[in-house]
Formats: sequence, structure tokens, C-alpha cells
Amino acid sequence: MNLIFDTHAHYDDKAFDDDREDVIDMLFKNGVCGVVNQGTDIKTSVFSINLAQRYDGFYAAVGLHPECLDENSTNDLDKIKELAKNEKVVAIGEIGLDYYYDIPKDLQKTIFAKQLELAAELDMPVNIHDREAHGDTLEILKQYKPKGIVHCFSGSLEMAKEIIKLGMYIGIGGVVTFKNARKTVEVVENIPLERLVLETDCPYLSPVPFRSKRNDSSMIKYTAQRIAEIRNTTVEEILTITRKNAADVYKINM
Ligand code: NI
Repeated sequence: MNLIFDTHAHYDDKAFDDDREDVIDMLFKNGVCGVVNQGTDIKTSVFSINLAQRYDGFYAAVGLHPECLDENSTNDLDKIKELAKNEKVVAIGEIGLDYYYDIPKDLQKTIFAKQLELAAELDMPVNIHDREAHGDTLEILKQYKPKGIVHCFSGSLEMAKEIIKLGMYIGIGGVVTFKNARKTVEVVENIPLERLVLETDCPYLSPVPFRSKRNDSSMIKYTAQRIAEIRNTTVEEILTITRKNAADVYKINM
């Protein structure tokens, strides 16, 4: 049985333009049972829905990524709401805060909050992007209490515990296999497996031994292997639990 559920991917990325169909066909022959493709703006949200309508194991998230915001973004929120009603849309994402890039923080926080309100209104989970914005992200999550995943989690164990207390899940990807991943390893060591989900963020963040190559969902087996090592259990157990968690959080019958 295929056990790999990729909770966060970007198969719309131009890195897949030459061979997207072949790659996706290969996934389902290599252990993958589910993929949630994330939107970052209107165009990629529509692309995600199209992929999800074409492939059985694919689902879509729709949303405005903090890196993609500008003064017109408020107008895009109505379109996101409309797209979110498609039957293969399982989440609002990816949304959040990114203080690495020079995009006005007020604009980021406003659009983030409005998308959390939308998720609450539609009773949908969210997929959260938090890059160098841990304090503000946690504060906003505590205020809005969404259901969902903090993707590619890069905060401390203390922050992970706070997020879990809110009822959310921690998304872990290829970074946990990197040599310098001490903080991520500490998080994986100490959180309940019932709150862990796996992801690629492909085409980026390939696990070792494919670091810096193009990532895809089948490579999650290396991430799961590393987590199994850390938790002193089997890859099968890690994949089985995280698959169930992914289906639970995205409300998918598997
Ligand atoms: Ni992403």
C-alpha cells in the first residue's frame, strides 16, 4: 500500500514544466498516495485545482503567499474565496509571514489575518508559511486559532509545543536530514507523532542524499527514514501515522 502523503508541494513550479506528467505518474508507482499542491497567488491556486481535478491523489490548497503580495492583494481575496469552494480544495494555503524579504509587514499581517478569517468562515484548515517571523506568527495563530499545519517548521521546540497546544500540526520536510538540522531534530525527537506531518515543498529542499537536486514527493521516504532513526521506530510506522494525520487535518477519506 502506498503510504507517502506529501502535505505541501508545488508541482506548478517551472522546474516541472518539461516533465510534469511523467513525474506525477512516477510518484504513484513509488509509494505516494496523496499530495496537496499549494497555491501562492491566483494563478498557482488555479493551477493547483487543475492538477487536483486531473489526478486522483492530488488535492489543492488556495491562498496568497506573503512573498506574492502587493497593493492589489486585497482584491484577490474574493477570488480565493470563490476558488476555495471547489470540491478538491482542502485548505487555505500557503499563507503566513515572511520577514526574510522586504515586503511591508503591515500588508503581510493584514492579508494573513483575512485569510485566517476566510478559513474559519469556510471551516477549512490552513497551511502556514513562517520564515523569520516566529513571534508574530505565533501571536496571530493564538488570536485566530485556525486548524491546520505550520509547514517546514523552523521554530524552537517551545514554539512547536505552543502550536500543538493550539491543536495544529507540525510539517517536517527534507531539512531534518541536513547535517546542521539540530533544532529540527530536537523538535522531531520531542513532539507527539500524532502531531507530525510530512512534506517536500518541492521542487525545493530535497532530503540527503539528493540535497540541491530537484525534489519530489517520492523522496519523502528519506525524510521518513531519518525521522524513524530519530524516534527509534520503523519507516512504515512513521509513514502510516503521518498519512493518517494528513488525512485527518485535510479531512480526506483514505
Ligand atoms: Ni511552499
